[in-house]
Amino acid sequence: MHSTRTVKFVDLARLHAPIAAQVDAAALRVLREQRYIQGPDVREFEKEMAASLDGAPVCSVSCATSGLLVALLGLGIGPGDEVITTPLTAIATAEAISLAGAKVVFADLEPEGFCLDPEDVRRKITPRTRAIIPVHIYGLLADLDALQEIARAHGLKLIEDCAQAQGARYRGRRAGTLGDAGVFSFFPSKNLGGFGDGGAVTARDPEVFRRMRMLANHGRESKYDHELVGLNSRLDTLQAALLRVCLPSLEGWNAARRAAAKVYDQLLGGIPQLQTPRARARTEPVYHLYVVRAPDREALADHLRGRGIETGLHYPQPLHETGAYRHLGYRRGDLPRAEAACRSVLSLPMHPCLTREEIETVSRAVADYFQP
Ligand SMILES: Cc1ncc(COP(=O)(O)O)c(C=O)c1O
Repeated sequence: MHSTRTVKFVDLARLHAPIAAQVDAAALRVLREQRYIQGPDVREFEKEMAASLDGAPVCSVSCATSGLLVALLGLGIGPGDEVITTPLTAIATAEAISLAGAKVVFADLEPEGFCLDPEDVRRKITPRTRAIIPVHIYGLLADLDALQEIARAHGLKLIEDCAQAQGARYRGRRAGTLGDAGVFSFFPSKNLGGFGDGGAVTARDPEVFRRMRMLANHGRESKYDHELVGLNSRLDTLQAALLRVCLPSLEGWNAARRAAAKVYDQLLGGIPQLQTPRARARTEPVYHLYVVRAPDREALADHLRGRGIETGLHYPQPLHETGAYRHLGYRRGDLPRAEAACRSVLSLPMHPCLTREEIETVSRAVADYFQP
């Protein structure tokens, strides 16, 4: 016999229950204050998030997609430039490159893992390459040592896509603070999720940071003083106020995700047909997702659905095979590791409130699938 209760993939109601009164109060306060755009909570949130990034400056933006665009434009990347990134990511990473007017160049994944392969990045460099965007996919960290070395050797900018990795550490340092710029997402299911869209950018060079801040607000520092052609990528005051309520919980939520991943690792590690995610040495991952690889993942997902267990697919298609990027001319087999990953990945329930019992239910169901 097995439990008939649903194991949810993400459970925001449970996550927010302990802070519901604070969330309600903050929302009501912003509604009463009526400073909906660039109200005081925006700068307060930015300061508080900067403290959580060991002091790196933070500019909030309307979402990570526009944050990536602001980062690229702020670093001076545009038409005629090439930017290397991974095909195993949300389409936003590539879209931002295209919207900046640059060309997306995909490099394959590392042999063991889900992040960019530095060796393939090296092979994809041309005289037009200007930047690399590694994605800390699923909250697992990319090989920043190798990528930094490549960037330094070739004079390239490094932009960390931390949409799935807020709070992670790489050799003790916060993800997002190791390259030229870092970009974060507050999409509701992210590690620091808001109550709508939102994001943030950080940059190492103060002048680049100043440009990014201007770009995110119509290219200006003060009203009507438009120095650059920018965009409207501001975070709403309401989101900022609500994120201020959530931010103090981020460390605890991430620790809970790591603890859940550890239990999954223990319970699933012995199934020979299944590959569990591997964290890089000397990193502190944040398991935005817990992604396993299985030979017939559709059948496994169906089996789990039959037991009331929700799963996800991140991602069913590598970006070079999507309609949006078909024009780049990649063929099946050009990025074989990413293609194989997209055929075999399955995201199991992962959120900070997952109980040991739920993880056991999921793991038992997975084990039963392989050994009925
Ligand atoms: C890796 C990655 N980059 C960028 C984004 C875009 O984030 P947003 O929805 O905040 O624009 C996402 C969100 O799905 C993501 O997962």
